[in-house]
Amino acid sequence: MTERLEIVFSHIKKTESLADVGCDHGYIAKACLDRGVTNSVIISDVSSKSLQKAKELLKNYGDKVVPVVTDGFTGFPFIPETAVIAGMGGEEIVHILLGANTLPKRLVLAPQKNSDKVRRTLTKKGYKIEKDFTFFSSGKYYDLITCSVGKDSYTELEYLFGRDNLKDKGKAFIDKINKEIELLNGVINSETASASSKAEALSRLAVLKEIL
Ligand SMILES: C[S@@+](CC[C@H](N)C(=O)[O-])C[C@H]1O[C@@H](n2cnc3c(N)ncnc32)[C@H](O)[C@@H]1O
Repeated sequence: MTERLEIVFSHIKKTESLADVGCDHGYIAKACLDRGVTNSVIISDVSSKSLQKAKELLKNYGDKVVPVVTDGFTGFPFIPETAVIAGMGGEEIVHILLGANTLPKRLVLAPQKNSDKVRRTLTKKGYKIEKDFTFFSSGKYYDLITCSVGKDSYTELEYLFGRDNLKDKGKAFIDKINKEIELLNGVINSETASASSKAEALSRLAVLKEIL
């Protein structure tokens, strides 16, 4: 597994049943079975071609593996205790969460962007967010959000940046923000950028400086 997938995997708690939603290759599902995190997995993907890769990888696991070609949780044979959704954008994750009639008790999510939208959806859907931080792997920044059914209230800044990032300010988060500050300064000092782009950059810069 890649370093990114190992990080995602390390945040999945032992569970009765698990779904790897948007599983593609199925590496997370395989690691969960091999390393005793669960005894049964639903591997699902909206693309039958992608799901085929996971089916091939898990062909010797018999009825421990239930494959489903579907959009999100639609038509799942049962709702697992835990679901992992990794390697897609936050808007797609929100689409999956909003499209479900019933959701798992626990979620482990790793959006590549638009994590604020995921956080807002989670608190609206009745989840308590337990971990919420940025990590860096293979040249990219990702957020890792774990949650379970419960009540939570996030501030606007927590929605925008992630609660643990604001509390602990890990290296990946600080580096990501500093990179954005560099880009914003580029716009502000540019001779060709419009006045409205400069104003937008200035107001974003003020927010970033406030949280660092
Ligand atoms: C980049 S892969 C990520 C695979 C794996 N989860 C990972 O983190 O490495 C994204 C997968 O999500 C699937 N996908 C995208 N939208 C989906 C949806 N609404 N429901 C189920 N699968 C979806 C895609 O077909 C693709 O196989």
